[in-house]
Amino acid sequence: MNILVTGGAGYIGSHICIELIQTGHEIIIVDNFSNSDMEVINRLEAITKKKIIFLPIDICNQEEFEKVFQNYSIDSVIHLAGSKSVLESLNDPIKYYLQNLVCTIQLVSLMNKYKVHQLVFSSSATVYGTPEQCPIPETATLKTENPYGTTKLAVEKFLYEFAQSNHSFSIVLLRYFNPIGAHESGMIGEDPFTIPNNLMPYITQVATGKLPFLDIYGNDYSTLDGTGIRDYIHVVDLAKGHVKALESLKEKYGWRVFNLGTGEGYSVLQVVKTFEYVSGIPIPYLISDRRKGDVAISYADATKAKQQLNWAAEKTLEDMCRDAWRWQRNNPNGYKVGNIREGQLVYLTDL
Ligand SMILES: NC(=O)c1ccc[n+]([C@@H]2O[C@H](COP(=O)([O-])OP(=O)(O)OC[C@H]3O[C@@H](n4cnc5c(N)ncnc54)[C@H](O)[C@@H]3O)[C@@H](O)[C@H]2O)c1
Repeated sequence: MNILVTGGAGYIGSHICIELIQTGHEIIIVDNFSNSDMEVINRLEAITKKKIIFLPIDICNQEEFEKVFQNYSIDSVIHLAGSKSVLESLNDPIKYYLQNLVCTIQLVSLMNKYKVHQLVFSSSATVYGTPEQCPIPETATLKTENPYGTTKLAVEKFLYEFAQSNHSFSIVLLRYFNPIGAHESGMIGEDPFTIPNNLMPYITQVATGKLPFLDIYGNDYSTLDGTGIRDYIHVVDLAKGHVKALESLKEKYGWRVFNLGTGEGYSVLQVVKTFEYVSGIPIPYLISDRRKGDVAISYADATKAKQQLNWAAEKTLEDMCRDAWRWQRNNPNGYKVGNIREGQLVYLTDL
């Protein structure tokens, strides 16, 4: 199938592209590189040994984006392009409503016009807000606590109502828990442009000496060691979940939603200890105040994806830490120059 991947140069999108190519799909990447680097495309070509079609287009530029639908034959869309910082969304909600909600509506309108009827959308566990129960099933109450989460929930509702009105569409929403790790080649991974919001890039940047210590926000939650518990999922497992979701689109019409998580929670300190174990590098940390909006415990009920998509996460927390570290160690500057080159890649087993 020919799959249009919006945001395909980003952290999750790039891993999805590899899995799609390796399962025999053709891909077209549309990305404006607002939060990614063109070098990703070279790396994807090196890993997959395939020439990749990529179009440096802003999906919000409807005129330009429409040309993609006019010029390429597209069977399905995996839609990841958007902005994802909770903090930024609190300071600039207009940007989030435009980028995440309005541009998604425009995308669906183009899909409708050009009769592309299959869509996988990147949602987030953030739509559960402070969960009332753990593990969290897809049927849990939805409530959001910041503009980023609200835009994800608004898109979910829009897609639901759209699917009610148009029975030729098949739409799957995937609610990601906490993707971490990197491709095992060590060639692609998470490369935040600023100080990372997420735990794993923070840890790996402390490990390389780029940041002096890890800030842990709160150690007085009612958890086993007082730090917050999350459902960390290896980004390659997450990417494989998209291939399964995509394959299910042709079997069922309408709107469906799935959690993509492991179903297991780990505390921040457990992740730090596991990282120290696999890398052999101590991670100094400081305990700061709790962050506003952080919940104590969040992990998925992942049974629906297992039953209906025949998908389950396979990789362990050690795999996640080892692969994240390999990526950061091989690429201390992310995708920018000055990294260890291919052929000089250092694997943990070589240490
Ligand atoms: N990373 C997470 O922890 C997480 C968790 C839940 C959901 N998500 C969602 O998954 C999706 C992908 O996340 P990610 O971590 O890979 O983020 P990312 O920022 O690495 O990837 C997003 C990509 O979209 C591109 N992009 C942004 N706006 C665009 C636009 N208007 N036109 C074209 N391209 C555009 C960026 O350049 C980037 O390459 C996002 O929708 C995000 O909200 C991420």
